[in-house]
Amino acid sequence: MAWKMACKAIALVSALLLSAAGVNGQSNKLDVDLDSPDSIKAAAKIVAENMYNYYSGDQPGKTPGILPGPPPDGPYYWWQGGAMWGTLIDYWFYTGDDTYNDETMRSILFQADPPVNAFMPLNWTASLGNDDQAFWGMAAILAAEVSFPDPPGPDQPGWLALAQAVFNTQFPRWETQDCNGGLRWQVTSTNGGYDYKNTIANACFLNIAARLGRYTNNATYGEWVDKAWDWMEGVGYITEDYNVLDGGHTPQNCTDLNPVQFSANAAILIHGAAIMYNWTEGSTRDIWRERTANLVNRTIEHFFPDGIMIERPCELEDRMQCNVDQHSFKGYMHRALATAAVVAPFTRAAILPTLRSSTEGCVASCLADGTCGFRWTTGEYDGDVANGPAGQQMSALAALSTLLIDQERVLNGPLTNTTGGTSRGDPNAGERFTGLAPPREIKTGDRAGAAVVTVAVLASFLGSVLWMGMGWSES
Ligand SMILES: *[C@@H]1O[C@H](CO)[C@@H](O)[C@H](O)[C@H]1NC(C)=O
Ligand SMILES: *[C@@H]1O[C@H](CO)[C@@H](O)[C@H](O)[C@H]1NC(C)=O
Ligand SMILES: *[C@@H]1O[C@H](CO)[C@@H](O)[C@H](O)[C@H]1NC(C)=O
Ligand SMILES: *[C@@H]1O[C@H](CO)[C@@H](O)[C@H](O)[C@H]1NC(C)=O
Ligand SMILES: *[C@@H]1O[C@H](CO)[C@@H](O)[C@H](O)[C@H]1NC(C)=O
Ligand SMILES: *[C@@H]1O[C@H](CO)[C@@H](O)[C@H](O)[C@H]1NC(C)=O
Repeated sequence: MAWKMACKAIALVSALLLSAAGVNGQSNKLDVDLDSPDSIKAAAKIVAENMYNYYSGDQPGKTPGILPGPPPDGPYYWWQGGAMWGTLIDYWFYTGDDTYNDETMRSILFQADPPVNAFMPLNWTASLGNDDQAFWGMAAILAAEVSFPDPPGPDQPGWLALAQAVFNTQFPRWETQDCNGGLRWQVTSTNGGYDYKNTIANACFLNIAARLGRYTNNATYGEWVDKAWDWMEGVGYITEDYNVLDGGHTPQNCTDLNPVQFSANAAILIHGAAIMYNWTEGSTRDIWRERTANLVNRTIEHFFPDGIMIERPCELEDRMQCNVDQHSFKGYMHRALATAAVVAPFTRAAILPTLRSSTEGCVASCLADGTCGFRWTTGEYDGDVANGPAGQQMSALAALSTLLIDQERVLNGPLTNTTGGTSRGDPNAGERFTGLAPPREIKTGDRAGAAVVTVAVLASFLGSVLWMGMGWSES
């Protein structure tokens, strides 16, 4: 890993020197013609290679599946590995480049943690959020939907079974004692954020349930989708204007709405709603059509004000403070919108031009070596390496890949059990999970570690708890 980072740093520095010197200012930019699928593929390949430089889990002695971290061992939390493999599955699906398929399969199966296979490995359960686990689950259900090569071994779980395991371990965590329902953000009661019932945990749960429902045509999943949607609407996380707010706390019965709007919340919901529209029928379909249309409409207005995506709460001039997690959000939005355009075709006319203009902004932020910026509205590379940079590479890769939407295998839509999907399921997956790691006895030497865990938990995923403390609101 160290040498890879060193090479990367040298490449970056020389790239910056070149641009600073004004030498070949233009030719130092990523060369891509967005009207040419071949050119998009070539550029995506460069960006993928660049992104993959941040991964070292394929090297001897390193842990498969994870990006370097969590802090202080490296900047990335466990969930972002799951997000990266999902991005690479889509990269393969849209471009056909299978360079990363073997490591993708190995990584997901490794972090699923046999024999339970529910993405709750002991290493990470101490700081596990429902959203963290779900990002791996969403990579697994995606693999089933796009017919990513199935794990070959008879003892290995199918992609479908892995996503079912996430669902099966999560729905029992739904509790009605506070706030009339909902999943908590954190899984363990000792974590900061256990008293926070937030949108991301519930949106990810809804997303997985919707996709399992459509894939297996099992109505039980659909009932959970309805329950999760109704609850998020009921507590006001999804507003009448289809703004998607961040969450609320159990001591306040979830009435202390945290108004911050992160794009990941909206993206995961759009994807789930569009899948429900596609799966359901009759008047239920009409309801999901309306929800999908309104979410897409509001999202484009809010997050793409001039046609180029901004992570609104934390990248505007007066508040440039996106953390490592948030540096990866644009990719989830581009991927979710692309899938919505396929499964809910009435959104296509609004979505495709938006993805195109936003990707134009994105590639203008990329250097010739595939290093891309976080901010896409400036027309140049922003040199932002402080909070990433694997996340912005993931985002750029997603933006480029999903422009290749107009090909048969993409437009056919995500597969299901009856339309060519071959993934093996197991309705009882995850049942072997018997509980979280017992808390370790705290020794003196653990003090520094404990402080780090607290910080890690606070900063985990959306960093919502920190936002609350700042009393910040967008207006
Ligand atoms: C857990 O951590 C140990 C020690 O770093 C490592 O050997 C193992 O592969 C990790 N397991 C997972 C699932 O990450
Ligand atoms: C908490 O909020 C729910 C609605 O979200 C409401 O039904 C319930 O009565 C409230 N409980 C208390 C104790 O206020
Ligand atoms: C959103 O809806 C409004 C009102 O119907 C409409 O004027 C606007 O064009 C829509 N925006 C998009 C991006 O579809
Ligand atoms: C569901 O998705 C498929 C695949 O994209 C599409 O052909 C079909 O029209 C969609 N169904 C509806 C009702 O829009
Ligand atoms: C579809 O799901 C059913 C029920 O789980 C299963 O029996 C069947 O084998 C599946 N079909 C395919 C093609 O996987
Ligand atoms: C449908 O899904 C539920 C929830 O996982 C499961 O209990 C049930 O067995 C499934 N039904 C079928 C027919 O597979």
